[in-house]
Amino acid sequence: MTDSVFDVERIRKDFPILSRELPGGRPLVYLDSGNSSQKPAHVINTMRDHLEQHYSNVGRALHVLGSESTEAYEGARDAVAAFIGAPGRDEVVFTKNASEALNLVAYAFGNPVGTDERFRLGPGDEIVISEMEHHSNIVPWQLLAQRTGATLRWFPVTDEGRLDLSGLDELVTERTKIVSIVHQSNVLGTVNPVADVLARARRVGALMMLDASQSVPHRPVDVAALGVDFVAFTGHKMVGPSGIGVLWGRRELLEAMPPFLGGGEMIEAVWMDHSTFAPVPHKFEAGTPPIVEAIGLGAAVEYLTGVGMEQIRRHEHDLTVYGLEALAEVPGMRIIGPATAEERGGTLSFTIPGIHPHDVGQILDDRFGIAVRVGHHCARPLHLRFGIPATTRASFYLYNTTDEIDALVRGLHHVQKVFG
Ligand code: ALA
Repeated sequence: MTDSVFDVERIRKDFPILSRELPGGRPLVYLDSGNSSQKPAHVINTMRDHLEQHYSNVGRALHVLGSESTEAYEGARDAVAAFIGAPGRDEVVFTKNASEALNLVAYAFGNPVGTDERFRLGPGDEIVISEMEHHSNIVPWQLLAQRTGATLRWFPVTDEGRLDLSGLDELVTERTKIVSIVHQSNVLGTVNPVADVLARARRVGALMMLDASQSVPHRPVDVAALGVDFVAFTGHKMVGPSGIGVLWGRRELLEAMPPFLGGGEMIEAVWMDHSTFAPVPHKFEAGTPPIVEAIGLGAAVEYLTGVGMEQIRRHEHDLTVYGLEALAEVPGMRIIGPATAEERGGTLSFTIPGIHPHDVGQILDDRFGIAVRVGHHCARPLHLRFGIPATTRASFYLYNTTDEIDALVRGLHHVQKVFG
């Protein structure tokens, strides 16, 4: 599995938590990175160093610490912009998480503060999402449709777990104002054909947003090459801390959008009856931001860049090929999602007949120290589409090994014995 360039054992040493023992002396087998990833020492040390040596508020303190802290915070923005190929650093807005980034864009539509026709939404207009979305890319659009009288529509999902594009031209029409879909599904692992959907969106004059929470951590993502209008992702799934996310948007659109949250530092000037707003991205960063978290995210992208995103993608591809084959040995195994690793990430969600996923997860954890996620993974409509209430999900990252997948398979055989 390990090639001369990508040394997974060396990478594992960068993550202190991976060498801890769980109670009872069980080694940790962490297969829940789709939920939240572990953190390398570089991120932990960068955050601690900032807190110990440089911490102060940013953008509003005219002392040494204020300028050091601001420099580090804005430096993190530069690092993130470079990491995703953003044409401009001002196109990177720090948010609390991907959900906030998606809500920010959804809120811009139909907000009376905005005058731009592209963000005016009402009865007769349509928003298009898909059946494989995380709740973060469903609920904000439902709320928007309720607020404005617009109609919410969605792409169905095929039995294989791919986006069903057979009705693309009927679904995305001149009535569509925005299409917002997931780049890589957090349940199915499916990587969606962005270019096909984007071509249609462009033809009808609709904007397009991607929820890239599960792609940016795992494969090279270049927002300029993708050509969409907005991209949302989160720090904690990409070896960074929680509490920090990113909205990337084309500058011209961010400038045209009304602000989302009002407060300190997002203004240019304030009178008692109205305000003018700061230039982007600060127009969207009201209040004291998550300073140390943003700096931690900057360290995370430095770390991932050092390893190499293409190397990470290849390693996870190998793990996915191995995992799909290994899990298939478990009697009754039903994997929800593409059966091959083509255009598919390392997220394996499955059911085993007669055993509830909560029992599977509990035994794997209690007996073997294997951490997986169980439930609907915040994608309930997708589970309903497959006629199941829940799945067990193993999700891989750069530090996972084929030995850990073997441990999972042994664990699943044991679960079957317990319930057999
Ligand atoms: N969206 C995260 C997951 O899929 C929390 O587990």
